[in-house]
Amino acid sequence: MLYDVVVVGSGISGLYAALYARREGLKVALISKSTPLRSNSAVASGGINAVLKTTRHDSCRDHVSDTLNGADNLGRFSAISGMVVGAEAIIDELQKMGVMFDTDENGSIAQRPFGGTKAKRTCYIADKTGASITQTLLTQCRKEGVKMFSNHLMLSIATFNEKLSGITILRRRDSQVIAFACKSLVLAGGGYAGIYRGHSTNSQESSGDMLALALRAKMRLVNMEFVQFHPTTLLNSGTLISEAARGEGAIIVDETGHRFTDELQTRDKLSRDIVRHQLAGHKVFLDFRHLGEALIDKKLPSARKNALNGAGIDIVTELLPITPSAHYTMGGIWSRDDASSDIDNIFVCGECAYSGVHGANRLGGNSLLEGAYFGKIAGINAAKAAKKGKFQPIDYAQVAKELRYIDTIIEGESRFNINTMRRNLGNILYKNAGVFRNHDSLANALEYIHYLMKMSSGLSCVNKERSDNVELLSIIEFRNALTVAEAMVMSALAREESRGVHFREDFPDTNDVDYKVDTIIRRLSGTFLRISFEGHLASDWLYRIRKFFHVM
Ligand code: FUM
Repeated sequence: MLYDVVVVGSGISGLYAALYARREGLKVALISKSTPLRSNSAVASGGINAVLKTTRHDSCRDHVSDTLNGADNLGRFSAISGMVVGAEAIIDELQKMGVMFDTDENGSIAQRPFGGTKAKRTCYIADKTGASITQTLLTQCRKEGVKMFSNHLMLSIATFNEKLSGITILRRRDSQVIAFACKSLVLAGGGYAGIYRGHSTNSQESSGDMLALALRAKMRLVNMEFVQFHPTTLLNSGTLISEAARGEGAIIVDETGHRFTDELQTRDKLSRDIVRHQLAGHKVFLDFRHLGEALIDKKLPSARKNALNGAGIDIVTELLPITPSAHYTMGGIWSRDDASSDIDNIFVCGECAYSGVHGANRLGGNSLLEGAYFGKIAGINAAKAAKKGKFQPIDYAQVAKELRYIDTIIEGESRFNINTMRRNLGNILYKNAGVFRNHDSLANALEYIHYLMKMSSGLSCVNKERSDNVELLSIIEFRNALTVAEAMVMSALAREESRGVHFREDFPDTNDVDYKVDTIIRRLSGTFLRISFEGHLASDWLYRIRKFFHVM
């Protein structure tokens, strides 16, 4: 199949990228590994940040400074300021497409406070913001002629003479490996918080596929150690209870009713307060009861439904037991402000990208904005690159090799249980690379990851069916998750300080002298990974010279 631009991932960034590439009059394919609405964007319930003309007591300057503060000195000013200034246009555009933001008594878009911000800046649709936005964008993409391919799992980037020629894909309907040729590619397939299986707000598909295949293609991954834990998730399942709850006035208490923390501080600090309190022997609850049923049903209907379905608790009258769970990953594929990456004609955006916006800790409400803003940039620039570029031949030896890989997984003798292994990975990461970590816990996690890597070669399907084989998908995802877990834990071991969400018990202080830089991980020959620390500009001089002399 031949497309000018292929976009992988159907969250807010992928949808935006596809839409904007299509608006340049090109043939655009949007690939998603399951149904298009199962993205983390659809789960991001609480809202999207923007300073609007009608916003009171706020300014772009404050939005930039809050985001930089949240990022704990690792944010990239150029990326943050571009996004903040572009936010109002995004909200306008979404409204024009049909997104019905909640409004206040004057008919202006209503905004709620979120953690770590100086003002009420988060625009919302009750507590279903991400779902409403992605649904609207999906409809718009269909209307404007983006070609959708669901249940297609990307396996790898195909190159010819080191130039992008397309991607290989597992078509789940019949387990065939197929190639899509393209002139430019946008990777927008999400982050890796789902590898904390059993302790994550993410859907089980969130296995870091984009990052694993980028690493295999020798692209750089950045700041993989920064994993954000959402402070308020259901105790036994990790189901998200949106920050909207705290924005609307729900409070955090222990079993004695003691309010031991500030609910509207940044997520890293709040999660640490909660875990410390738990370690001191307390139970922790979210208390909505003073808000009253009418407000809860109007502004927090999903929270009420999720608490009832997931924990059997009616938040109108009962306390809700909560704990932090892995929610969002700041680490990602290295990219510039124009969403370009280490490989010409490959653009990255959304959670799989390191855009420079979130640094060591993301503010709630900034990820939908980042996805939309950089998705749009990625789409426009991918279209520009496609117009200048030409199709490169597909190397069918690579396709054949991947087909053999799939055949081996389906046909081989199954020796281990994939679900147990996935859960074990999630448990060890939560325990040893969680809200608190130290050298010994991380070294122990790394050893276990290497053990699982060895075992994973013995994973094959029990069910040998070729149509929609869920086990096949799980095994491929698990191997990707292990690749990403190794990069993440190695990065966490290397950063011997505490910053943002990365809290090292053995190095509790921030060390700006040695570590106010990005952790870069790249794959050398074989499976050998190399870690270095680099400032953003230092690693980008060649590209800037090429761009200056117009050779791009
Ligand atoms: O809590 C939430 O609604 C999550 C929002 C976000 O991660 O931005």
